[in-house]
Amino acid sequence: MSETAPAELVTLTIDGIEVSVPKGTTVIRAAESIGIAIPRFCDHPLLAPRGSCRMCLVEIPDAGNGRGFPAPQTSCTMAVAPGMVVQTQLTSPKAKAAQEGIMELLLINHPLDCPICDKGGECPLQNQAMSAGRAESRFDGVKRRYEKPVKITDRLLLDRERCVLCARCTRFAEEIAGDPFISLAERGAYQQVGSYPGEPFDSVFSGNVVQICPVGAFTAADYRFNARPFDLVSVDTTCEQCAAGCSLRADHRHGSLRRRLAGVNPEVNEEWNCDRGRFHLPLGATDDRPLTPLLKDGGAMREASWPEALAAAAAGLRKALKTGVLPGPRQTAENAAAFAAFARDTLGTPSIDYRVRVKDENQAAFLLEQVKGKALAESVQYRDLENAAKVVLVDFDPEADAPIVFLRLFKGLRKGLKVVAVAAEPSRTLAKLKAELVETLEDAALDENTIVLAGERCASETLRQIATSPARWAWIPNDVGAIGAIDAGCLPGEGGLDVERMLNASMALVVGDDAVEAGMGFTVRLSDLGDDAAGADVWLPVATVTEQSGTFLNWEHRRGSVGLIAKGRVPAAAEVLAHLAGLLAAPETAGSEAGEGIPDFEPAEGEEVSA
Ligand code: SF4
Ligand code: FES
Repeated sequence: MSETAPAELVTLTIDGIEVSVPKGTTVIRAAESIGIAIPRFCDHPLLAPRGSCRMCLVEIPDAGNGRGFPAPQTSCTMAVAPGMVVQTQLTSPKAKAAQEGIMELLLINHPLDCPICDKGGECPLQNQAMSAGRAESRFDGVKRRYEKPVKITDRLLLDRERCVLCARCTRFAEEIAGDPFISLAERGAYQQVGSYPGEPFDSVFSGNVVQICPVGAFTAADYRFNARPFDLVSVDTTCEQCAAGCSLRADHRHGSLRRRLAGVNPEVNEEWNCDRGRFHLPLGATDDRPLTPLLKDGGAMREASWPEALAAAAAGLRKALKTGVLPGPRQTAENAAAFAAFARDTLGTPSIDYRVRVKDENQAAFLLEQVKGKALAESVQYRDLENAAKVVLVDFDPEADAPIVFLRLFKGLRKGLKVVAVAAEPSRTLAKLKAELVETLEDAALDENTIVLAGERCASETLRQIATSPARWAWIPNDVGAIGAIDAGCLPGEGGLDVERMLNASMALVVGDDAVEAGMGFTVRLSDLGDDAAGADVWLPVATVTEQSGTFLNWEHRRGSVGLIAKGRVPAAAEVLAHLAGLLAAPETAGSEAGEGIPDFEPAEGEEVSA
């Protein structure tokens, strides 16, 4: 890889402090680099400068070098220049007065409905009205009024009178997501955000506009009036919806998850996420769901205590001639390792498979050889996609399979990336990526300047062809736990059966989630929902993703932490397996059969769920 040449530096003075920053840096970013915060609304580090709100005005006096301006300038659109002198609101009464004037103008139309606005408490307008506004308003006229809220989609509502016309939302939709379905319509005092008739804001990234709107104009229908920001506790976590590995911020109130926001992770999701990750809230400690083990008894399921259920599971597994383990593809790396250890050390079986279906006979061998144990440093990474000359997509739909991968490819287009897809038919996603469609891998001409992204549907014969080509490549599975499970060894070893063979054999199975049908033999199922208990002989409830901490490995083999929101009433799968292993390791006595020494996880009546 070629070394990046050091950026040319430009030296200027901001509020009397000399600072050197790379050429092309805007004044607002240069000020940030020395800890000076200039108020702003439309500026966003990941969006193109627009200069629409005028809040970031600074004074740039003539320092005798001809670089001054008679009137205040917008620091978010102004690039630094050698010898430039900048005075922000901290040192220039003129800049301060200009900012206060802009704030007064914005507040002429903005309603004072902070107490009932979702953004109240975390609102840049509210905060900056305090820090950069006048204490009193001179306006006593009638504010602009609109019908409210406008339903932009089922998930997004727009209160137009709150909008400060910063165009963050419309720029996000166009520049970042490639879905330009919202725009600023009308002119002057009547300007407003709108969508086009008959063209809904159909975007898998739509929820980001709620997060970046600097006022409460865009709100999420599900979260509206649901919580106040200052009542929420935030937990950093990693999304469980796909293998992209997005950092998320999960906000909860006493253990009840209220919303999820994109976390800041420049290496992975930058500051974005997709609507699946944002709006599909996993269950947690305060949600109503079955928490008592179930046992098959005379053809029907009945509730059982933990000791009884674990003893029954151990007894069934002891009796079985053959055993197998199906952890499922959504486990944390820690749970996957526990399933692998349970298969290897407790049951002594080579039959373990995290997959829910077998793509082809040779897939497991390929994954064990070419994917297992790959280090992040040897893997293709997000930043490689953005800077690549050519990316070839094989059986991979980035927007559907791992949406954040799509955002990086779309960003790469601006830097000259060419996307080629081995695909039979065009699609909206491929059109957005301006992808050239080819019929075969040979047509895609894989050379060393190429990165290939192969999806889970890709046949292992094709994967081998890719792996032996000069191109760099990555295999992107659909599920969050796939890479962690492969690394942990949750694939059939020598003489082991794969998932389909296990399900069709009369063997005892330990099944990790609801992703597979019940097997034909004795089945112990560990899952976080009760609705899949029917096919099991013993059903053991386990913690959801919000009730445990752990790790997910994304498609780059990068580790992402799973943050604990609140401990629930049931243990994580790894803990249940440890107890089951303990029972199976103990001598087969009446005591162990009855589950002696196994804790009963049920809380006492009225016991609080601890956060
Ligand atoms: Fe800006 Fe929000 Fe208005 Fe969009 S809706 S232009 S993000 S204030
Ligand atoms: Fe500079 Fe809006 S932040 S004009």
